[in-house]
Order: sequence, then structure tokens, then C-alpha cells
Amino acid sequence: MTTQLESLRSHSLVVADTGDIEAVARWKPQDATTNPSLLLTSAEDPRYRHLMDADMDRVFVNFGCEILKHIPGRVSTEVDARLSFDTQGSIAKAQRFISLYEKQGVKRERVLIKLASTWEGIKAAEKLEREGIHCNMTLLFSFAQAVACADAGVTLISPFVGRIYDWHKQARKVDDIPVEDDPGVASVTRIYTYYKKHGYATQVMGASFRKTGQILALAGCDLLTIAPDLLASLAAAGGEVERRLSPEEARRAPLERVSLDEPAYRWLHNEDAMAVDKLAEGIRRFDADARKLEQFVLSLVKERRAAA
Ligand code: E4P
Repeated sequence: MTTQLESLRSHSLVVADTGDIEAVARWKPQDATTNPSLLLTSAEDPRYRHLMDADMDRVFVNFGCEILKHIPGRVSTEVDARLSFDTQGSIAKAQRFISLYEKQGVKRERVLIKLASTWEGIKAAEKLEREGIHCNMTLLFSFAQAVACADAGVTLISPFVGRIYDWHKQARKVDDIPVEDDPGVASVTRIYTYYKKHGYATQVMGASFRKTGQILALAGCDLLTIAPDLLASLAAAGGEVERRLSPEEARRAPLERVSLDEPAYRWLHNEDAMAVDKLAEGIRRFDADARKLEQFVLSLVKERRAAA
């Protein structure tokens, strides 16, 4: 019997959202995505101690290189959240990641540099793409962010579903929101439709899922990045998955093209209270986890020195 995971793979490219290398090896996705929170969890895992290094950038790249051994496609490596409002700093960090990857024999085509979808991050991505450094724009919650990313010509965006769902659950004081009414699913659907309708090449990768229903509701999205526990649920469930998103359907949608300069982008993004909250909180959370990872790495270095 076909599993939902197999059937989903006929509609969308399935990506593993994890820093757990064994999980990547088990699920054999095309691509894989990491973020500082996922890498903190994996760094604390004794199985991956050999990937630790006093230099944090090398830790991220070491994980990326290990992951690449198990996938045919690309790995996403995230730029330090502290650079979220620093275009030049983000460019320099991305270039360093690429140079560290290249030193390990990995071509830039196999890496996506993940940047927060702030105005500054989007401008950094625009420049990096011109140098052949491909970007994955993360922490994407608003339509304004999606429009600006497409206009910047980035390779890929990761619009979040689960964190939008979390925000609305809290605002509505409910325990669940049915998929048909899920604002996270609606956000990705709108962005996908807008991109396909207007012929943008930027790929859409739905991210941040809380339940399989959200994933299935986006079957047909270019890519879907899915955590191992949800991949396991999809693999355990049988049945054909119906395609929900398609370029043909999108082209029929009545969605006007929008053009956003910086003031218009800032205004439109600011109109979306959820997106403003979640972008700010997301940056704080990724930063906090990166700092914890830094402390952990430092403590390991001290331990190693004391033992030497
Ligand atoms: C992937 O690119 C994102 O970092 C990830 O899906 C976020 O998921 P979360 O909202 O469960 O942290």
C-alpha cells in the first residue's frame, strides 16, 4: 500500500528539517534544512561530538558537510541571527560559510545560505545571489516579506506554517485550528499562488509544521521541509495524497502584482501584527539558541584542554 509520504513525494520535493544526521540518513530526503535551534539539539548529542570545533561557523559547516553525505541535494546553513539587521555583516558571514564549505570540497550549488527575511537580510540575499551564492529566506511570515524576496530574485523562501498557527491559537485562545481555517496554511497558499501566477522563479518551501494535516494541505508546494517525527507519521499512514497546489490553478487566481519599495515593504509588513511579533521573536529565539550553542562549544573546548 502507498504511504502518505510516498504519495506526497510525487507532488512536492520532501526535505528533512533536522540537525540529526542519522535521521537524514534514515529518511533519505532530497535536501535538508537546519537552524540554530536544531543544531543546538544535535550538538548536545554525544553521537555528534566529533563535529564540534572552537569556531562556531565551522561547527555549522561540519554538520552541513555530514548531512550532505546522505542527500543528493542541498543543505541550508543559517547566518547568525545577530546579523539580521546588518546587510554587509550577513554577506560576509555567508561568504565565509561558502569558503569553509569549498575548503571541504563542497560546491556552492549544494548549499543554501539561510537568512532572516528582514529588509536587510533580503538585500544581502539579493547581492549574494548575484555572486552565485544561493539563499533560503527564513522566518517568513508576511506577504510583504514574500513579495520582497521574489523581487530580490532569491533562490528559495521558507514561509512558516506552524508559528503562524501558534500565534493565532494563542490569540483566539483555542487548542487547535482546523486545517481548512489555518492561517499558516493560507499564508503559504497565497504566496505560492502569487509566485506562480506572476512567473517568479523563486521556489516556495513550506516550513515549520505542527501536524501532518498542514503538510497534506500544501501538497504540490515546490518543497516541504518536515521534521523527522512528522516524516515518521506520514510514512506510517497509508493512502493517496491529493494535490492541493498547482501552477495551473494558481495562474487562474485573481491576484494583482504588487511592487514594494522599502517604505512600502515596511508599511505592509508592519500592518501584519502576527508577522511583526513572530519575526522579532524568531530572531530572539535563534539568537538565544546560538548563544547556548556557543557556550556549550566553549565548555567542550575547556574540557578538552583540561584533559590534554
Ligand atoms: C526550517 O527551515 C525552519 O527553521 C523550521 O521549519 C522552523 O520550525 P519550528 O517553527 O518548528 O521551529
